[in-house]
Amino acid sequence: MNNIHQLLTSATRAYEQNRLTVAKQKVRNILNVQPDHPEALHLLGTISYQNGNLEHAEECMLRSLELDRTNNDVRVKLATLYRESGQLSQALEQFQILSQFNPESPEILYNIGNALNDLDRQEEAVSFFRQALILRPKFVEAIFNLGNIYDALEQWFEAIGCYKQVIEIKPDFVPAYSNCGYCYIKLGQIREAFECYQTAVSLAPNDTWSYVNLANAQRGIGLLDEAKLSFGTAIEQDPDFTLAHLNLHACLYGEDKEKASRCLEQVLRIEPNHQRANFYLGTIRDFQGRADSAKNHFKIARKGNSKIDFLIDSWDYVCSVESSTYRLLGTNREMWEWALENANVDGLMLEFGVRFGTSIRQIAEITDQIIHGFDLFEGLPEEWGDLPKGAYTTRGVIPDVPDNVELHVGLFENSLPQFVESNPAPIKFMNVDCDLYSATKTIFDNLAGQIVPGTVIIFDEYFANPTWREDEFKAFQEAVQSNGWSYDYLAFSLPTRQVSVKIR
Ligand SMILES: C[S@@+](CC[C@H](N)C(=O)[O-])C[C@H]1O[C@@H](n2cnc3c(N)ncnc32)[C@H](O)[C@@H]1O
Repeated sequence: MNNIHQLLTSATRAYEQNRLTVAKQKVRNILNVQPDHPEALHLLGTISYQNGNLEHAEECMLRSLELDRTNNDVRVKLATLYRESGQLSQALEQFQILSQFNPESPEILYNIGNALNDLDRQEEAVSFFRQALILRPKFVEAIFNLGNIYDALEQWFEAIGCYKQVIEIKPDFVPAYSNCGYCYIKLGQIREAFECYQTAVSLAPNDTWSYVNLANAQRGIGLLDEAKLSFGTAIEQDPDFTLAHLNLHACLYGEDKEKASRCLEQVLRIEPNHQRANFYLGTIRDFQGRADSAKNHFKIARKGNSKIDFLIDSWDYVCSVESSTYRLLGTNREMWEWALENANVDGLMLEFGVRFGTSIRQIAEITDQIIHGFDLFEGLPEEWGDLPKGAYTTRGVIPDVPDNVELHVGLFENSLPQFVESNPAPIKFMNVDCDLYSATKTIFDNLAGQIVPGTVIIFDEYFANPTWREDEFKAFQEAVQSNGWSYDYLAFSLPTRQVSVKIR
């Protein structure tokens, strides 16, 4: 017996020194004498696990647990083995047994939360993370993972709450800033996202993704020059980062097509068949009068995995527009600024489709005027393409908006008649971002009398969508016909799918 104890000590030491073959031999010697030695089986299982022999590791650990059900260490290793080898239900089962023996262990509750999350049982996972946090309120990993689950459940306010708590406890934990920034973007609070990404970049200046996130936020709030620099830094760090080249191209597309085309050439250097890059480069070549090169890029783009005929159809439509006074832009902010620069009617400013307020916040920064925002805040009232009814819902949350925004809650068909009665002035500017044909038609049916020469309208999904000819485009074209309007296109932006028009 004493001899076995000594052998086990010596086998454990060999294992700790990473002399696995020696350790294994010593354990086998023990098991030859005493095949049911739970600690020896545990150690043999651990060695097999380390050697990548998972089946044998599992067998040894299960046998060890049969002999001693209460050995937490073996069970934790077995559960970890199951989790890492994708046997998720078995992992959960082992953590649940562990919890029966250790009901007050925050680690085990945390692990159950993780296992439930792995099994896509997020709602249950939340409850286990919460229990872990009652026992240990500053359990950073549990708070962070809880935040990630809220994010996955699209409960972004709650997720932000968790990330902020993590930041309070561990102010240099970069993923908390990045994830928090992402949730702010989802909530349309791009300035707040920008601040998170700025901190992430200052804490981890070598993290290329942080620069791309920062650049996207900068682009969103109109800091285009800063965005270009941040994309540039990301590209310096990783010259093969296609997304950075692609997004930088969008920042340059409006002002310098040649520079934008160089970004796309970089994407194609890395991925010659990149669909969107070929498509966008085709549009630039067309614009530059290089029809053969354009055709070639469109041909490659068409060969890709997903169908993009609707994009080429959208571009053909742009090319078919007779006037050539419109601009080709690449970012939201440029579209809003250009539209507002051209909106000189003394009249109302409106937005249809507010959701969390991403666009209305940006527009409110460009003007001092009151902007009236209309939305049901319960998402699309009917299906749209692949999106189900209710997509884009804020779950009834009415967003915080700047002082110069006034919100009108409800279906357009219910809120507009009353609004029109008390606001009969002509319309200076409208941002139509409700996606649907029916909703856009309702807007024009109610507001046709206030749409006058000089009214500027931006459509957020006018084209560059698979169903674009059936959506906002169709509703506008019908309104043009029935009201006898003429109009000019002010700008097209393929990357953001926006179009602006001015009534003549
Ligand atoms: C794409 S989202 C708007 C996005 C928003 N502009 C932004 O910047 O995030 C479309 C919105 O249109 C709203 N909507 C669509 N049809 C509507 C209708 N008939 N009445 C009221 N709201 C509607 C939905 O509730 C949804 O919030």
